[in-house]
Amino acid sequence: MNGPILVTGATGTLGRAVVRRLLDDGQEVRVLSRRPRPAGDHEPYDWATGDLRTGAGIDAAVAGVPAIVHCATTGGRGDIAATRLLTEVAGRREGDPPHLVYISIVGIDRVNFFYYRAKLAAERVIESSGLPWSTLRTTQFHDLIALITEAQGRLPAANFSISGARFQPIEVREVAERLVELATGEPAGRVPDMGGPEIRTHTDLARVYLESVGRRRRVLPLRLPGRVFRDLRRGGNLTPDRAVGRVTFEEYLKERKGRKKAPGVG
Ligand SMILES: NC(=O)c1ccc[n+]([C@@H]2O[C@H](COP(=O)([O-])OP(=O)(O)OC[C@H]3O[C@@H](n4cnc5c(N)ncnc54)[C@H](OP(=O)(O)O)[C@@H]3O)[C@@H](O)[C@H]2O)c1
Repeated sequence: MNGPILVTGATGTLGRAVVRRLLDDGQEVRVLSRRPRPAGDHEPYDWATGDLRTGAGIDAAVAGVPAIVHCATTGGRGDIAATRLLTEVAGRREGDPPHLVYISIVGIDRVNFFYYRAKLAAERVIESSGLPWSTLRTTQFHDLIALITEAQGRLPAANFSISGARFQPIEVREVAERLVELATGEPAGRVPDMGGPEIRTHTDLARVYLESVGRRRRVLPLRLPGRVFRDLRRGGNLTPDRAVGRVTFEEYLKERKGRKKAPGVG
């Protein structure tokens, strides 16, 4: 590619994997973070400090990039404004507009959850931005299931699971690989969804996680009220026809035990 590929959300779970994959493929990379570059980070990427809420630093971040992999998330409705800001700044910069590659979530149009409504609106912002674009929807990452189960470890006595809900978790590096393929290719619009290799109950996944970290806790399935849980029980978050991921939750857990965190994002 001609110039570095910008990765927003580069310090996050997905962004780190995207950066690693780009570097391994020999691509030039620019990372975006609200924070300054950490001491001891000598990875071969440019570091752009900027904030998609305020717009500070975003002009410099998008200058000269042929493509942007947009992984940043504010965790809520802020994603709509942040995505709009990114598309506006990228659209008015000098030269050809960059190819914007967006990561979205399977079932955002079926599960009535505030975050999913924001993702759907952010997809629409990109589609109508005038920029060349590609959007990939995936199921939940293995890391998210692990994070939620781990966080519940602080509850007294037991973990709980969403009774009737199933998940199809996917390895984030497989998602990163696909995003890099998209970013280094022609704009493709909405591409086929990606789901993990197995559909498992939430209860099952939580039990497997606890067992892998050696915690002897019960998992209590709770039947939770509300639209979000109803939509999950109906499988709105799943894509059985697109179970293209290869790494299972058990394989992820096994590999995770041996990992060490290095400075920087790669
Ligand atoms: N997690 C899942 O299971 C899953 C599944 C499918 C799709 N996705 C999508 O994948 C994307 C990445 O998810 P993730 O779990 O990797 O996220 P994450 O780990 O929570 O990382 C969020 C990133 O967003 C950046 N960020 C937050 N606010 C920002 C702001 N105002 N300006 C610039 N950057 C900002 C953070 O960077 P700094 O703190 O360094 O600024 C951080 O790197 C999201 O769009 C999410 O919807 C996630």
